Amino acid sequence: MTTKQCRAILIALISSLAFASCGQVDDPCKTKSRVVADDKYCDKYWECDNGQSVQYDCPNGLVFAGKHRGVTDGCDYPWRSNYCEYPKVQINPPIGTEHCDWLYGIFGHETSCTRYWTCWNGTATEQLCIGGLLYNENAHSCDWPENVDGCQKHPLCNEDPNGNVPLGKSCNRYWQCQGGYPRLQRCPAMLVFDRRSLRCVVPPTEECDVPTTTPPPIEEEPQPRHPPHISKRPNQQEYQENQARLKQRN
Ligand SMILES: *[C@@H]1O[C@H](CO)[C@@H](O)[C@H](O)[C@H]1NC(C)=O
Repeated sequence: MTTKQCRAILIALISSLAFASCGQVDDPCKTKSRVVADDKYCDKYWECDNGQSVQYDCPNGLVFAGKHRGVTDGCDYPWRSNYCEYPKVQINPPIGTEHCDWLYGIFGHETSCTRYWTCWNGTATEQLCIGGLLYNENAHSCDWPENVDGCQKHPLCNEDPNGNVPLGKSCNRYWQCQGGYPRLQRCPAMLVFDRRSLRCVVPPTEECDVPTTTPPPIEEEPQPRHPPHISKRPNQQEYQENQARLKQRN
């Protein structure tokens, strides 16, 4: 092969590679789902409308996830999966409103480690992490304090980082602070938590009678100082996941 031939082959190879990496959006009208992702922008997609391929934007802050997937029809939070991996980028700039960096998303609270905002079309709803959990910016959900940078300690344990704290009106459950981290604890059978001495004692106490031998089937939930707002939107699921995690840990 001459140098010239070799160069020609190389050029042909390079241009075909360049062509392949520029990619071609599949015609959505030729696919079964009639929706395809854009090849460059993760917040855009193509849909077949009356036989024509039309480009659409995901709601601000969301990226294309696939037909019938995500928190809206087809679009999802970018951090929920690898929807937006290099070299794909989000092209639409954020549209911010009060508490929301984007119109849709989950965002940290400005002043509290136990609160966060869920934003839906720019409307922010304040959410509360319960059960000693703190909002984790990276996970976009409530998490154990040791996993949350800058918010390791819980205000519950401010008074005494290694003390016990009553849990609402519960007679047998309480918080045990360990180095500022609260842990849910239960008094041994037949003992009750005494709010004066902050210990498990033999009943009765002022608030608690002798417990029944069979514990009630429904567990009393940890009582946050403010009731959590449970939105019907994606947070319901996260809330339940947190509840499940909490139950596992205790
Ligand atoms: C989002 O809010 C804007 C105005 O605040 C409204 O015009 C629009 O219809 C809303 N979109 C959705 C999908 O709710």
